Amino acid sequence: MSDTQAIKQKILELKKEKNALILAHYYQPLEVQDVADHVCDSFEMAKLARGAAQSIVVICGVVFMGESAKILNPDKKILIPVADAGCPMADMVTPEDVIRLRKEHPDAAVVCYVNSSAAVKAVSDICCTSSSVLKVVRSLKERKIIFIPDKNLGSYVAKMVPEKEFILFNGFCPAHNRISESDVLAAKSAHPGSVFAAHPECREEVLRHADFIGSTSQILEYARSSSAEAVIIGTEEGVLERLRKELPDKKIFSVAPNFICRNMKKTGLTELYNCLINEQTEVTLAPEEIAAAKSSLDRMVSI
Ligand code: 13P
Ligand code: SF4
Repeated sequence: MSDTQAIKQKILELKKEKNALILAHYYQPLEVQDVADHVCDSFEMAKLARGAAQSIVVICGVVFMGESAKILNPDKKILIPVADAGCPMADMVTPEDVIRLRKEHPDAAVVCYVNSSAAVKAVSDICCTSSSVLKVVRSLKERKIIFIPDKNLGSYVAKMVPEKEFILFNGFCPAHNRISESDVLAAKSAHPGSVFAAHPECREEVLRHADFIGSTSQILEYARSSSAEAVIIGTEEGVLERLRKELPDKKIFSVAPNFICRNMKKTGLTELYNCLINEQTEVTLAPEEIAAAKSSLDRMVSI
């Protein structure tokens, strides 16, 4: 048995012994995805964490995903394998920013991308993910929307929901925002006849060329069901690697080299094994923080 197989086996045994549920995001390394009970986008992850019956839930992803799981299921022990696997976009907005925007636009609802801290969720009206954002925004009675923190996702939604007025914040995902129109054009000319599927965290100049725009799960579904023989993927490489494994007869290309979220790649099998054996690091939030942030996440999940 190889070292990788041996550690995978140990993780599966520990998971059973400790009655743990492992949820992994699609950007996690493939070997981590392999030992997870579910591999999911951030909306599915929040939903599965909320409904988890196991005593321990391990979130293989970034810190805000662990926090969301804790907020939605506070009685469970929520573990994350790497305590400093943050999301730089989530760190770009503070509760003070939201409070200031609310003062400037008292008639607006605050829609907060789930890639944000618990403190920011606490001062928002409702959360969204990339798969739920259109439904969330359309469900609101307010015409004016303060959208935080992702300017790219915000401008995509503003285009899709022209009946609403949007006040955008200046946040972005460093991995997706790096991709340019010339990357897309180069990929398209290198792979003629391909379709292009992109995540809405990409810039407008990139999304303009997309045949499909959606969350990680939705991109996977699109690639699986598309009749095209080749698909260019406009999101992190975890999605691309999974598709190459799942669809060996299709050609799957990345829109640009090194499309990687460094924080997502901090978790490997060793980190996951240590997390399970030591039951570390536990996500802890003060009861007041959980109570304050719960309503915006609950509203999103129940839509
Ligand atoms: P998804 O909701 O599409 O999984 O996106 C999460 C994320 O962080 C994208 O960068
Ligand atoms: Fe955050 Fe971007 Fe990584 Fe997603 S890909 S977790 S938005 S840094």
